[in-house]
Amino acid sequence: MNINLDIEKILVSEEAIVQRCKVLAKQISEDYEDKKPILICPLKGAVSFFAHLCEQMTIPMVYDFIKASSYAGTQSTGIVNISYMPTTPLKDRHVIIVEDIIDTGRTLSAVVEELKKEGPASIELACLLDKPSMRKVPLEAKYTGFVIPNEFVVGFGLDYNEEYRNLPYVGVLKPEVYTK
Ligand code: XMP
Ligand code: MG
Repeated sequence: MNINLDIEKILVSEEAIVQRCKVLAKQISEDYEDKKPILICPLKGAVSFFAHLCEQMTIPMVYDFIKASSYAGTQSTGIVNISYMPTTPLKDRHVIIVEDIIDTGRTLSAVVEELKKEGPASIELACLLDKPSMRKVPLEAKYTGFVIPNEFVVGFGLDYNEEYRNLPYVGVLKPEVYTK
């Protein structure tokens, strides 16, 4: 069984992602020169993007994690649960949340509100994928990898029922996978 065979089409190739990570990391490194930002990775979907982005950063920085979830399968429950908070003190620090995908925006806005309580100097968002047509709450990333249409995607950290995160690209599953 090869998981690549479950993919109907590739939306964003591995080469395109790697290239885009380099460009975004360069931009962030320039914008945050001398600010020693804290990059925060929401688990688990953002892990691949986060690692690629951080590896390309050239300025002093630290990273930490947060765990927030709003999804079961492909459907948004609209309920956001935060089960892990960063241990790094965020007070007066410049925070960048590095997310895999912004869909309705509910998860990330809940995360932003929670982190704001810690009193950071600033909070900005970087996302690999943006589905702006799905937005339910106003939210804009300062750094965006790719704008994609409203399709459920997997790969490069994104899952369907916890699988497919390890694909090195972003793709759409064959319809029959959902009925398996
Ligand atoms: P919201 O709607 O709160 O959702 O912006 C963001 C979170 O929902 C998940 N999500 C997806 N996961 N393929 C996935 O594997 C998708 O197409 C997709 N759209 C949303 C994801 O966890 C994200 O953090
Ligand atoms: Mg996520």
